[in-house]
Order: sequence, then C-alpha cells, then structure tokens
Amino acid sequence: MPEPLLSNRPSSELSNDRDIAEEDALLTGQPTDKSAPTARSRSWRVWREIGLFVWAVLATALVVILAVVYQKSVDKPSGSPRPSGKRNLIFMVSDGMGPTSLSLTRSYKQFENGLPFSEQLVIDQHLIGQSRTRSSSSLITDSAAGATAFSCGMKSYNGAISVTPDHEPCGTVLEAAKKAGYMTGLVVTTRITDATPACFAAHVNNRLEEDLIAQQMVGEYPLGRVVDLMFGGGRCHFLANGTDGSCRADDRDIVAVAKKNGFNYLDSRKSFDDLKGGKNIKFPILGLFAETDIPYEIDRRNENDIYPSLHEMAEAAMIALSEATKASEKGFFLMIEGSRIDHAGHHNDPAAQVHEVLAYDKAIDSVLNFLENDSTQGVMVSTSDHETGGLATARQLHATYPEYVWYPGPLANASHSAERLDLEYQKFMFSAPDASPDKITDFVKSSISEGLGIEDMSSDEVTNLVKDPSTALYQYADMISRRSQSGWSTHGHSAADVNIYSSDPKAAMPLVGNHENTEVGDFLREYLGVDVDAVTKELKEKGVKLMGADGVGWMGPVPEAGQRLDGQTHLASYGGDYRKRHLNHGRGCDCGH
Ligand SMILES: *[C@@H]1O[C@H](CO)[C@@H](O)[C@H](O)[C@H]1NC(C)=O
Ligand SMILES: *[C@@H]1O[C@H](CO)[C@@H](O)[C@H](O)[C@H]1NC(C)=O
Ligand SMILES: *[C@@H]1O[C@H](CO)[C@@H](O)[C@H](O)[C@H]1NC(C)=O
Ligand SMILES: [Zn+2]
Repeated sequence: MPEPLLSNRPSSELSNDRDIAEEDALLTGQPTDKSAPTARSRSWRVWREIGLFVWAVLATALVVILAVVYQKSVDKPSGSPRPSGKRNLIFMVSDGMGPTSLSLTRSYKQFENGLPFSEQLVIDQHLIGQSRTRSSSSLITDSAAGATAFSCGMKSYNGAISVTPDHEPCGTVLEAAKKAGYMTGLVVTTRITDATPACFAAHVNNRLEEDLIAQQMVGEYPLGRVVDLMFGGGRCHFLANGTDGSCRADDRDIVAVAKKNGFNYLDSRKSFDDLKGGKNIKFPILGLFAETDIPYEIDRRNENDIYPSLHEMAEAAMIALSEATKASEKGFFLMIEGSRIDHAGHHNDPAAQVHEVLAYDKAIDSVLNFLENDSTQGVMVSTSDHETGGLATARQLHATYPEYVWYPGPLANASHSAERLDLEYQKFMFSAPDASPDKITDFVKSSISEGLGIEDMSSDEVTNLVKDPSTALYQYADMISRRSQSGWSTHGHSAADVNIYSSDPKAAMPLVGNHENTEVGDFLREYLGVDVDAVTKELKEKGVKLMGADGVGWMGPVPEAGQRLDGQTHLASYGGDYRKRHLNHGRGCDCGH
C-alpha cells in the first residue's frame, strides 16, 4: 500500500487507508494500486524499484544543478554589479521631487485627459527603491550635499560642491568616467552652474560661487576639460560683466575660455535646431539656452521657439553621445536633471510643479526608448536629491474637520506659473511707477483671471497683492494651492525619503530597497567600473599648486561659520528658532536651493 500523498489532512470523513488512497487518486490523477500481488506484478515491482532508484539519483543530480544555477543567477546582480563589455549609464535627477509630487501629477494627468484611475506615469512603472537623503550638516539636505552624495559617494555639508566636510576635493564619477575613456554629458533645465550639475564637474567650497563653477566646468581647474556636452541655462555666469545679459562679478569672458578649450558654443533655439536632434553635433559642445534658468515648462510650452525642452535636449545628447562612442570600447555617462521640480516646490506652486514632473516623465520615456533601441547595453537610474516644499495632496482650510478631497481642476486652469505672473507684475510696476491704485488693481485682477484661471478671487486677495508686490510670487501660488487644496509645509526642503527608479532592476539590483543616498553614488562608479579615488588623489596633488594671489585656494572661499550654507560638520541643533522672526525674508526664493 503506497503512503497516502496527503497524509496529514484531517481524516474525519475517510476512515481507512483505501479511502485515502482513492482520494489521492482523485487529487493526483494517478491510478490506485488495488490488485493483490502476483508473480507478474512482483517482477514489475523489481523493475519499478530499479526505475525509482535511477529516478532518485537523477532527481538529486538535477536539484544540485538547479541549486548551483540559481545561486549563480542570484549572485550576479548583488555580488558583482559591474557588467562586462561596453556600456552606457544615464543618471537622472528629479531635483526636489518627493513621492507626493507623483501622486499630485498622476491625478492631474488623469483629470486633464479624462483617464481612468489605473493610468500611471511612465516613471511609476520603474520604481525600485528609496533613498535617505540627510547630509553631514543637517537632517535636511540641500542640492549641493545631495549631489555630492551621488557624484563622490560621500556625505558632505549643505553648500558643498564635491568637497568633503574638511574642504578637500573628492573625485566625481564623471571625472573618473572621462579618465577611463567614457564620453560625458550634463543636461539640465536650471543654470549649468547650479549645484546638481556643478557637483559632477567642479569642486567649490560654497555653491554660491557660480562664476568660479563656470570657469571650472569649461576646464579651468586641475583636471582640464572633463565634460564633452553641456546643455542648459546659466549663460549669464559665462559673460563678462558690463556685457548684455551678464551676471558675472568680474570682466572675464568664460565663453572665450570655453572656445579656447575646444568647445562649440550655442546660445539659441535656432542653433539647437541646427544640431538636427543630435545627428549634427561636434564635440565638445556647450549649449546655454537661457540667461539663468530655462522657464518652467508651464510657461516654456508657449515659448517653444526660444527654449528647447528637457526631453529634446536629452534626446539630442543621447543620440550624439551614442554616435560619438560608436567606434569606442567605452560608452558614455550622461546626467539629466529635471532641475526645476525643486523650484516649483520652493515657490509652493502646484500648477508649475505638475508640468515640471510631466516634462521629466517625458524625458524618462525618451531615455527608456533610447536604451531599448541602442545597440550598446545601458542602464538608467533616476532619483531625487531631496523633497521640496513638504508637499501634501491635502489641505485643511478651516477649523472644521476637513473633507477628504483635493482638486486638480485649479491646476488645469492655470496657464502661467506664479513666477511668471510675479515677473510680469514687477515689470509693470517698474514701467509704470506712478500707476494709480485703480490701475494696479486692474492689472492684478487680470493677471489672476488670465494667468491663473481664477474667477472667484476675493477682494482681500486682490488688495494684498496690490499692497505687497514684494511677496506676489507666493501670493499667486497660494491662490492656486488653496483652491486645489494642495498643502505645503515649507518654502524649503524636507527630510522625506525619495524614490529610486531604474530601466533595469537587475542591473540596478544594489539599489533595490531603501538606501543611503551615497549608495546611489557607489552604484554609479561601480556600474561604470571607474576609479574615483585616483581622481581624488590627482585633484589634491595638482590643486596644492593652484593657490590664488589672494590666498584663496582653487576651490574658492570656505563659507563662514553661521553663513546660511555653513560648513559645520556636526548636525545642526535646535536653538529656540521657532520664536525668531526673520525680518529680512524677501520676495521669491533667493534662498539656497
Ligand atoms: C567688472 O569686473 C572688474 C574686474 O574684473 C571690476 O574691476 C569692475 O569693477 C567690474 N565692473 C562692474 C560694473 O561690476
Ligand atoms: C526605436 O526604434 C523604433 C523602430 O525602429 C523607431 O520607430 C523609434 O523611433 C526608435 N526610437 C528611438 C528613440 O530611437
Ligand atoms: C476652470 O475654468 C473653467 C472655464 O473658465 C471654469 O468653468 C471652471 O469653473 C474652472 N475650474 C476651476 C476649478 O476653477
Ligand atoms: Zn531646492
């Protein structure tokens, strides 16, 4: 009698072995062994036992083989993340985008296009993990310390551009990639001298030194030129003071320095179009398409003839870098940043934010398409440096217990960013300093109805805008936020964990799960297989000789203790700040992003 297959089930209804055997037969589809033993069946039994023995040996062998194969496939991604052969790495940064930015934008997209609730963003489909973002000086990081974690794989203080807490340079993944023979690129929508891009190709003690960063990025620093392609804004830091559109403090012409170092320089939409989507690029290339930041997507979409979009710049960069490395053993490293998601968070402007996130999502889609088609293997990893604004898709407007709602409608009705409306208002006040209160009131009312699509403005809202033009940006943004019931807890950053995404969870296995932001930096260098420590050594050795005449090192002055972006290495601690009133809080966001 064979042992019942399912021997440990309750046997209340079935009283004997035979019944159990029959039930097994029903469950397994195998016939029962009912007949009494005969000579024929005895010899069959012998053969059957031999057969079972052989089967057992084979099965054991198979189990061993499978275990080995399985172990190998598990080992591969986590044990040795570095693939072999030629490869490309596209690292994407959604500056200031927290998880709530995605629920805000997803619901907005569904509302705007009449899509079902199951409709996701492209990026939603590639979530692999989360990053913890604190810096060495604070539980809330800024973009400089955040990007230093990615570029150097090290924690540093808020304000640090790829320097350590003791003000030594740390080699970056981009520099090491260049040394190893990869081509390199940076594509952003903010100033190319802003913290995130700067951290890949500059070393500066204080992020505010953007003039110095501009010099370094075109090759005026110990390593010479390391970036092959730069697209973004921030032209004003490259133009000599006194010339049109300059914001430099000195009279140095950094465009000329760039050209001397071989760069092809572009500064217009037309010259970008002449690149034919990347098919007609000569390296190295420097494209600065705006004086400062490229406008928010909500405004830029109406000025497409002046500024290229993020995904257009990204596509041109990928196609050109792929073509240029075609005959090379090494691929490329490209950093693409959706820079101004952060700014929309600082401005607490949900309408501007959803368009920034959608533009980033479009760039993600471009990158995924590129990776799918390109003959060289590659991976995309996307994450944020931090969350901005403490955004909530909820807002309690009154003392009474709130309803569970937030409304995407008011975001859809806004045609301009609060930043743009503020700028127009300042321009109006500047051009008509003697305008009567009635005229100002008319201007403000029409900016609210035309720019924000708000018809139910209160007289208080209008009066406050007329009374205090210096905070107009925040007032415009607040009108949209209240009507949509979007909540914000700060005009600065928050300590929220941010998401990590990848085109290939297997290749990016070390980033699956919850990680410290420096582990993202570790992954970048390991995927490329480059020696960042050798770059650190070279920077230190060559940098020692580069002391300026004023006694300031090549990385610029160290921020003073107590300065906003201070260099303290211990964590900031509470000092009764909630009582302090900052009298000099000005308009807009002139804080450190
Ligand atoms: C321009 O820069 C030079 C030094 O490079 C400085 O002497 C001069 O004062 C600056 N001019 C202005 C208007 O800032
Ligand atoms: C990828 O290849 C397909 C088919 O050849 C093509 O239609 C598509 O435009 C390509 N996409 C990119 C981003 O090159
Ligand atoms: C959006 O604009 C339309 C047309 O002006 C208007 O009917 C609607 O009430 C507005 N929606 C919101 C939420 O303000
Ligand atoms: Zn910021």
